[in-house]
Formats: sequence, C-alpha cells, structure tokens
Amino acid sequence: MGNYIKLDVSNTNQFIDSKIYDNLLKEVFDATKLLRSKKGAGNDFLGWLDLPISYDTREFARIEQAADRIKKQSQVLIAIGIGGSYLGAKSAIEMLKRYFNQEGVEVIFVGNQISSTYANQLLDYLKDKDFSINVISKSGTTTEPAIAFRIFKEYLEQRYGKAEAKTRIYATTDKSKGALKTLATAEGYETFVVPDDVGGRFSVLTAVGLLPIAASGVDIEEMMSGAKKAYLDYMEEDIEKNEAIKYALTRNALYRSGKKIEMLVNYEPKLNYFAEWWKQLYGESEGKDGKGIWITSASFSTDLHSLGQMIQQGERTIFETVLNVEVPEEDLIIKEDKTNLDGLNFLSGKSMDYVNKMAMEGTLIAHVDGGVPNIRITIPNISAYTYGYLVYFFEFACGVSAYTLGVNPFNQPGVESYKKNMFALLGKPGYEAMRDEIMAKLNK
Ligand code: PA5
Repeated sequence: MGNYIKLDVSNTNQFIDSKIYDNLLKEVFDATKLLRSKKGAGNDFLGWLDLPISYDTREFARIEQAADRIKKQSQVLIAIGIGGSYLGAKSAIEMLKRYFNQEGVEVIFVGNQISSTYANQLLDYLKDKDFSINVISKSGTTTEPAIAFRIFKEYLEQRYGKAEAKTRIYATTDKSKGALKTLATAEGYETFVVPDDVGGRFSVLTAVGLLPIAASGVDIEEMMSGAKKAYLDYMEEDIEKNEAIKYALTRNALYRSGKKIEMLVNYEPKLNYFAEWWKQLYGESEGKDGKGIWITSASFSTDLHSLGQMIQQGERTIFETVLNVEVPEEDLIIKEDKTNLDGLNFLSGKSMDYVNKMAMEGTLIAHVDGGVPNIRITIPNISAYTYGYLVYFFEFACGVSAYTLGVNPFNQPGVESYKKNMFALLGKPGYEAMRDEIMAKLNK
C-alpha cells in the first residue's frame, strides 16, 4: 500500500448507489488488468506505463547537461509547444518555482496559442535578454508551435548570427520523422526524443517536460524518484489498497450516479496549472464516443467568490476532487492588532495555513450538504518528488478510468476537426475541396 498520498472517498458514499459501485468493482478490476496486460485499445502508446523504471538514462543525462548549458547561456528559455508538449512543463514549473522569483532561467511558453500580440510583446521583452529556444513537438508538424518557431528562430538568428543560434536551439521531437526532425538534422540542433510509444499528454516525464523543467532549476531526478515510488505503489492488486485504482473507481461510480462533472480543486494557486495538465490528460483521454466525465477546475478560496454560488446551489451534477497540501512550503502567524478594527483578533496566534485548512473543511461540509460529493487527495507537500508521484498517480488512474468507461484512452481523433477547417480556410494545399464547403458554412 502506497500511503504517500492519502485518498479519502468518505464524502462520496451517500451519493453512490451500492449496486452501481458493486458492478463497477469488477469492471475496474478488468480495466486494470487490460491496462497492465497491454492488450487494450491504443496499446501502442503505453510507454509511459513503465517509464519511471525504464527511461533512457543516457538521454536523461543529456537533458541535465543541456539544462546546465541553458542556465549558463541564457536568462530566458523560450519553450515552444502546445497541449502535451507544454502543459506538463508549465504545470511543474508553476508548482515548484518560488513565487516572484527572479533568479535562474525564466521559462516562457509560446506556440501554445496563435496570439500575435503575445508573440510581439514577447519579442519586445527579449530585446535586452539572452535567450535559448526549446522547440517541442512530437509530430513536428503542429501549426501553433511551428509558427512560433519560425518567428523566434528568426529573431534568435538575427540576435546571435546563424552559427551561434544553432547552439541555442534544442529540439524535442520524434526520433526519425516530421518536419521538425528534418529541420533539426539539417541545421544540426541538439535533439531530444519523444518516445514513439508515449503520447503527448503522457509525456511530461520524457524530454518533452524534463528539459524545460530542469532548465528552470527544478530537480528532475527527485521528480523521477517520486514517479518511481508511485509506479511501485500502484502495482498493488488490491483495489482497496491502491489509491489510483480507487480514484478511477470512485469517479466512475459518481459519473454513473449522475455526477457528470468533475472539478479539480486546490487551495494553493501553485497547483492551478497542474489542473490544466490534468484537464488535458482526462479530457483528451476520456472525452470521446459521446462519453466522458466533463472536467473543470477551480482554485479556492479565490473561486468561492465567483463560482461558489453555482457550486452550492446550481444544477446538481458536479463532484469535487480536492488536492489538499498537508504541509505548506511556508507559513506565517497572524498577529494581534491592538485596534482590532477588522475584528480578526480571534485569529491572532493562528497560522495562515490553519485558516486556509479551516476554509477547506468548512467548504467541503457546505458542498456535501448542498449535494456536491468530494474525493480528497492529500499530498504531503509541494516538491519535485510529489509532482512526479502525482503525475504517475493521475496517469495510471486515467488509463484505468478510460478503459472502465470503454474508450481508447490514447487517441484524440476529435482534435483534428478544427485543424481541417482552419487549413481549408487558410488555403493549405490539399484542402481545396473542403474550402467551398467551409466557406458556405462561414457565410451562412
Ligand atoms: O496529447 C496530445 O497528443 C496533444 O495534445 C499533443 O500533445 C498536442 O497536439 C501537440 O502535439 P505535438 O507535440 O505533435 O506538436
């Protein structure tokens, strides 16, 4: 049994029909078996399953060396990527870097949207800073990062000359195919490999996530140790002792009991981007064939002042998964104020984290009373080790959950629809036939 994180599902019991739960037990057991047997749908993309114990240690050492070089070369690392090629690194850095920290390499993400304003203002910001680029795309053909790479590569070459620019570009892509691989080979960029059998949203523990994370100063060895601990913990066969399987089971039981929306909640804003990573993981893995728990996220107590009303009394279709940090990185004591004009002296001597925890407890009770069940996941701290552990916890649970739902967790056919329309509208060669059809819809 793991116990590194604690899973508390006691606030779901009253919302789940026992028959639904009992039926699901067998389905979840079978789904776990299917995942582990590597015989289920999408089994070409199960490289992440053993990654914490089977990752390429030579590649890992090269990542650490490249990160050290970036630290010496640059004040800023421009990380270019979208979806699974950006959210992992972004979530780790947001969670693990100190707030308001000006030290070390600043990692700035671009190519995760197509905003001309963002690109221009970033170019402006870079004017007086040394920078390097890590362009990350498994396919090597994704439009958003490809556009960003054109723009920032040109600026890098203009700043440093073509020869030095090459030493400041790091490409993370497929080992042999795709436009980025071709370009990287032609130009002689240092390249890192996205393993064939690891899909974008499961790739944070490969070079995709590890290089920008390491460049930001986070200890990626600790991160992999945390992932390994989770890997070992979730080999446990007994559902009752395996928190990842239990999480998958409970969220599916709630889904079948009419709770169609899962909201990942934190009380620590450093976890906001972790929720974005989680949303991609579960959304792209499960939202298909007309099925899937809708996922959303919130940060409390901030969002209690915006979403609180809706959560408490809106349509009763949501449940919460709460990420509770047991020990904060830092705490402070609220002091007595002689005038007590704000009436807060009843808090003097108490720690700010204690107040935060009481806000959480009070909210959870209120929400359960209002018909919102919750799954509570307590993590011991905010650390690289915990990040690695949590990543594996959610990935493993995602595989089990999606197979339980009866979908292929490892494809994303729906993502192509917008791209085809966009290419037709932009006049991409090969899309001529679609263009008239799209134009007719546009002008309707
Ligand atoms: O999970 C996925 O597969 C996607 O979100 C991809 O990560 C995203 O589309 C980026 O793809 P690529 O790395 O090929 O540029």
